[in-house]
Amino acid sequence: MPGRRAEAEIAIIGGTGFEEIIEGAEEVRIGTPYGLPPRLVVGEVSDRRVAVLARHGPGHELPPHRVNYRANIWALKALGVKRILATNAVGAINPDMRPGDIVVPHDIIDFTRSRAQTFYEGPDVVHVDVSEPFCPELRRVLLEAARMRYDRVHDGGVLACTEGPRFETPAEIRALRVLGADLVGMTVAPEAFLARELEICYASLCFVSNMAAGMQERLTATEVLEVAARLRDIMRSIIVDAIPRIPRERKCPCSRALQGARLKA
Ligand code: HPA
Repeated sequence: MPGRRAEAEIAIIGGTGFEEIIEGAEEVRIGTPYGLPPRLVVGEVSDRRVAVLARHGPGHELPPHRVNYRANIWALKALGVKRILATNAVGAINPDMRPGDIVVPHDIIDFTRSRAQTFYEGPDVVHVDVSEPFCPELRRVLLEAARMRYDRVHDGGVLACTEGPRFETPAEIRALRVLGADLVGMTVAPEAFLARELEICYASLCFVSNMAAGMQERLTATEVLEVAARLRDIMRSIIVDAIPRIPRERKCPCSRALQGARLKA
């Protein structure tokens, strides 16, 4: 529809295939001070305005450490997005979690090292609270939707984010286990933290593609893709069911994340 500015209140950040759930889809490009994110697909799901962003690009050409997380989150904010439902592939460190399981994590350990971490580089000095890094309202909605569709769903888990693109060593996984991590992936940080910095709610629907390094014979990217393909329909259905369950009004603390966070303007 020429002339109308694209808008969305909810975003899905994930792999490929989510565009297909959007009705009346239009492609949108939004430039940001941080660069140009991949194209967004914007339209409707259950009468809600929804944007889909493939974080690795439409042809999966961006490795996790090269994703422009700031441009992505900034563009979603510019579109009016207040809620982000992310999907992430993860390896399981906790032996109770198995390939094919779905987990809605509740906390993060950030072991990334080369990624731009913040929108606040000065003179604005801002320290956002991440005592609850995932939005409690969105977590609840994702869990309800997941449990309606699937019986292998875990409520909570600590997700460690590594830099990649290589997988971890067995010693790194043992260290992460001692530190309390249940899962390991490469994409939740700084994505979740950047969303919080812009007062956007964020929760993640993780699928376990493999046991972490040292817990199975060897790790391959092909295996991750195979499990992703196997779970694509179920992940998509969970997201479709979750969207109409998201309350229109936000009562969570994410919407007030900048209150008291600023040291100096
Ligand atoms: N490690 C890091 N990232 C991942 C893994 C893993 O084992 N599986 C899927 N993404």
